[in-house]
Amino acid sequence: MKNTKKTGFATRAIHTGQEPDPLTGSVTVPIYPTSTYVQQGIGQHKGYEYSRVSNPTRTRLEQNLAALEGGVAARVFSSGMAAIHAIVNMLKSGDHVVCGNDLYGGTPRLFNQVMSNFGLEFSYVDTTDAGNVERAIGKHTRMVYVETPTNPLMRLTDLEAISAICRRRKLDLVVDNTFMSPYFQQPLALGADLVVHSTTKFLNGHSDGLGGVVVCAKPQHAEKLAFLQKAAGAILSPFECWLVLRGVKTLAARMDIHDRSGRTVADFLVKHNKVKAVFYPGLIDHPQHALGKRQMTGFGSMISFETGSLNNANRMLKRVRVCSLGESLGGVETLISHPATMTHAALGAKGRKAIGITDGLVRISVGIEDVDDIVEDLDQALNAI
Ligand SMILES: Cc1ncc(COP(=O)(O)O)c(C=O)c1O
Repeated sequence: MKNTKKTGFATRAIHTGQEPDPLTGSVTVPIYPTSTYVQQGIGQHKGYEYSRVSNPTRTRLEQNLAALEGGVAARVFSSGMAAIHAIVNMLKSGDHVVCGNDLYGGTPRLFNQVMSNFGLEFSYVDTTDAGNVERAIGKHTRMVYVETPTNPLMRLTDLEAISAICRRRKLDLVVDNTFMSPYFQQPLALGADLVVHSTTKFLNGHSDGLGGVVVCAKPQHAEKLAFLQKAAGAILSPFECWLVLRGVKTLAARMDIHDRSGRTVADFLVKHNKVKAVFYPGLIDHPQHALGKRQMTGFGSMISFETGSLNNANRMLKRVRVCSLGESLGGVETLISHPATMTHAALGAKGRKAIGITDGLVRISVGIEDVDDIVEDLDQALNAI
């Protein structure tokens, strides 16, 4: 099926790149577990030469994800971090990147502990105020890198405002859209140049494979990233491409439930006497609720809340039964985690304090189980505090 603007999101998720196999009629995309391809003669082949460069299962996934984000092309990688690594590998020594200061912990770890050894420079600012981004731009700035909502504090960045600055200053805007998925937020339509996802999360949706994708608005980025797939080789395997192709078919249906249950759980947490604060953009008193309504079509199921102390967090997390204590998010099962010791441990106590991640903060990725069971489980666990 062609990527026409006329078809709806769920239709594209199920059919774009997911056309029946022309050889057999198989309704699902075949997995091509091959490293190489027989050639008909020197320079004569059917478009595939070696699987680090391209693979038919991967091609299909890249077509699908490009269509969902509205990009010209997508490139998939072996994890979300590999995708982010490829993005900053498009830069060169001496280049500077302005980043949000409340990113998934692995991202500043890569930037500060790996990429800075190669002469790249990174500044971190609170991107809830577009003025901070503008002020951090210098002579060598090439890129602005944001996550919205942020992980784990659920702060929003005004993508239209930041992309207007980037256009004016000739910078590339990169948006990590992992928390929202293209179902609820389409950064390219708001002016971003590149969208990155950990496909490990909502796009796959079943917690059974790692992966990452970069979706590009411009062909020159798509070409550079294809070159990096070939040159550096951190590509996604055909089997894991297939897992995402399968998972993404239900993205729209899953996201609707995630969103509905996310709102229910957030409302429950707000009213619970053991919970000191709830961070969820779907709440009317979230400071950026209006912006969220403008640039997102749903609020999703990522919520953080304050239990008051490490001891309180530990007591409740030990008691959960329906929710699973573990890192990651975006799966059909509810996952609950402790950012200070898990996803954001690498920031160090000082780094966490600077952005407001406390030892009592708990993050929940509300799954698609019966929401009453999730609420009951959280209630009994919180009452252990
Ligand atoms: C927002 C966000 N971006 C990127 C990543 C990295 O993805 P991966 O774990 O697939 O490497 C994560 C992982 O948790 C994430 O939450």
